[in-house]
Amino acid sequence: MAKRLIINAFSMAAVSHIYHGFWRNPATQATRFYELDVWVELAKRLESAHFDALFLADVLGVDAIYKGSADTYIEQAVQIPIHDASTIATALVAVTHQLGLVFTSSILQDHPFNFARRVSTLDHLSKGRVGWNIVTSVSDNASQNFGLPGITAHDERYRWAEEYMEVVYKLWEGSWDDEALLNDARNNRYADPTHIHRIQHQGDRYRVAGPHLALPSPQRTPVLYQAGSSRAGRAFASRHAEGTFIVCRNPEGARVLTSNMREQLRQSGRDAHDLKFMQGLSFVVGSTEEEAKRKARALDEYLSVDGLLAHISRDLGVDLGVMSPDQPLSEVKIDGVQGIIEYFSDAFDRTPTIADLASAYALNTRIVGTPEQIADELARWQAAGVDGINLMYETTPGSFIEFIDHVLPVLQQRGLAQREYSDGTLREKMFGIAPTLPEHHPARKWRHAFY
Ligand SMILES: Cc1cc2nc3c(=O)[nH]c(=O)nc-3n(C[C@H](O)[C@H](O)[C@H](O)COP(=O)(O)O)c2cc1C
Repeated sequence: MAKRLIINAFSMAAVSHIYHGFWRNPATQATRFYELDVWVELAKRLESAHFDALFLADVLGVDAIYKGSADTYIEQAVQIPIHDASTIATALVAVTHQLGLVFTSSILQDHPFNFARRVSTLDHLSKGRVGWNIVTSVSDNASQNFGLPGITAHDERYRWAEEYMEVVYKLWEGSWDDEALLNDARNNRYADPTHIHRIQHQGDRYRVAGPHLALPSPQRTPVLYQAGSSRAGRAFASRHAEGTFIVCRNPEGARVLTSNMREQLRQSGRDAHDLKFMQGLSFVVGSTEEEAKRKARALDEYLSVDGLLAHISRDLGVDLGVMSPDQPLSEVKIDGVQGIIEYFSDAFDRTPTIADLASAYALNTRIVGTPEQIADELARWQAAGVDGINLMYETTPGSFIEFIDHVLPVLQQRGLAQREYSDGTLREKMFGIAPTLPEHHPARKWRHAFY
């Protein structure tokens, strides 16, 4: 029997998330991102198809990178306007019962004491369905929005993240012992003070006395996701994350990445399978390969090369707008871009241009074909060490509906997708073990640390 894939829907409360320009397609509801009904309908749909989770991205700024300004981002709605991911997740708790609700939250945006309490509250309300995508915000503007002069240096951001994790772990895992809650009405003793502890955290950035003010929630610590790919980012993931969002170009790339990271995981004292690798993929489905390709071509009519280049410029921190889209990549002499060009070097059958780079960047993780071809391809990703997918949409909810109606039944038939939810919290559903973090996770060292 095949092992099932974990299947998340990847979205963002924005007009334009990944496939910039596609918001103009009359088939998408992307411009209704601010409406509750749209999210409720999507969440219910995902739940009835037994998706593991809705995974919400988020960003906190718009930088003047592309063509030296923020205009393209604003004009083409490249992740602006963008609404708060945790608020969307909170709104969906009441209309779902099994679906995981994973949202992105940056160490910039919330004080860890407040964040820990909000997450505990949400984990209670959802009966343990919360996941947190930990990000450090690669954006000058984001930093400036939170009172800093500009972005904090790369490795320092990860040191900051380490302290942030320490604070929230102390609150979630250490502050309340399992024995703390008595609920003894007869003796008027709701809780036992000897089992509730101040954490007295004193670090470089935070001073937090505690105790945690919320009851320990079903998962205590939410399911931890992360998406960095630098050395520091991978080291962070291997210590903390239970899910990592990867965007490899092909299964061969995924094989190298997953085996390297599993080794790193062992070195961090964790089990090689304590971290689930979630590959970002999108799909265009047809009853024949030709039909699927035709559909893909029709979708791509809406692609905005300018919007894509603006997004890539932001991710790379270099302005690809200073060149013409028709310029051959071989003429590009910008620090930091050579690596990306090499990465894509085998993707082109002619001398590629800047515009080709944009398309490759956007489309290299798209699988176009019949449901059977897509299932075959997913089996290849799985054989390369990938545990699941974060499904990216071209149109919403259209891409999700097509996947649910056509691809999912084939995956289910092959044992590659679940037909029913298993019981318990998001962590139990993902790992088949306890609702709380395993013993060898670093957060667990804070259990009883203050007792
Ligand atoms: C697939 C993927 C999704 C990401 N989603 C977000 C996001 O929603 N919000 C955000 O601020 N950063 C996001 N990031 C950025 C990462 O969290 C990370 O900050 C970035 O990759 C830089 O880290 P690194 O230097 O370790 O690679 C994402 C990165 C990847 C690869």
